[in-house]
Amino acid sequence: MINCTTVAGLRGACDAARLDQRSVGFVPTMGYFHAGHRSLMRMARTANELVVVSIFVNPLQFGPTEDLSAYPRDLARDIEMVESEGVDVLFVPTVDEMYPEPTQTTVHVAGLTEGLCGAARPTHFDGVTTVVAKLLSMVGPCRGYFGKKDFQQLAVVRRMSAGLNLPVEIVGCPIVRESDGLAMSSRNSYLSEFERSAATVLSKALFWASETVVRGERDPQRVIASVRQVSILEPTVELEYVEVRSVGDLSTLDALDGDVVVAVAARVGGARLIDNCTLSIRGDDVRVDLGVLVHPSIERIPTCNE
Ligand code: PAJ
Repeated sequence: MINCTTVAGLRGACDAARLDQRSVGFVPTMGYFHAGHRSLMRMARTANELVVVSIFVNPLQFGPTEDLSAYPRDLARDIEMVESEGVDVLFVPTVDEMYPEPTQTTVHVAGLTEGLCGAARPTHFDGVTTVVAKLLSMVGPCRGYFGKKDFQQLAVVRRMSAGLNLPVEIVGCPIVRESDGLAMSSRNSYLSEFERSAATVLSKALFWASETVVRGERDPQRVIASVRQVSILEPTVELEYVEVRSVGDLSTLDALDGDVVVAVAARVGGARLIDNCTLSIRGDDVRVDLGVLVHPSIERIPTCNE
């Protein structure tokens, strides 16, 4: 595996591969890997000749009161994992390498960034689009792999990529869950054992809400109410929002139809967690996508509290 810390090193490795007619698959991350990150690497591995992973905890996407300094990091363990996933290039830049000067150029996607997580985190998505645009410009033409867990991020990155004519194919990957349903997240390491167990109510609530749609419910407000009804069983879990939106443009809906996402954000102890499920509704036919439970063959990655 090529380990690089400079933009020039990353560019050189990607250009050399393309010159050799090898396709490039790119997985941008903030590290502290779990099976969700690894599933993105595996998807990239199956479709590309050169797989590039970046690890960069991007200061620009954290608000002033958010968890930038506490964000979990373990580079030695991450390196072992990328090696075991057969990654070809690992890019771990410093903050100075990514932002050599005070940031004066940013990328903003209007509209899609305004509600949902954008309401509580008003500067977050500008930080994400700025760093992702920079990373994609460094990697060059590629397939970029993003998780559906961060469904608003995926929609915003798709819109940015189309809006800027980036030579990139954005690939959305299924949500990977712990065997009890909790969506994997680096931030789960903030949870105590008690909070960790309470947090499973989020996926249970989404599952229950999707069941109501399968049984014929088409009123978004009633679907939202059913998520709230289940979540209330765990007072440790403080819902920030529950929303039902159209998948493509994240618009609100009067009635459920087509491809929709049921999304939640919640505070659990010191962690802010998000989760969602998508539903494909064609008349009476409803397909539910809750993602995948972690496969037993993927070794379980211990959290900080274990
Ligand atoms: P990070 O939270 O490290 O996530 C990196 C990628 O892994 C994202 O595309 C995210 O959606 C995906 N991911 C996280 N948990 C997942 C899960 N349980 N199942 C499937 N995919 C999952 O998202 C970021 O970093 C940053 O915002 C980044 C895009 C790197 C820009 O800084």
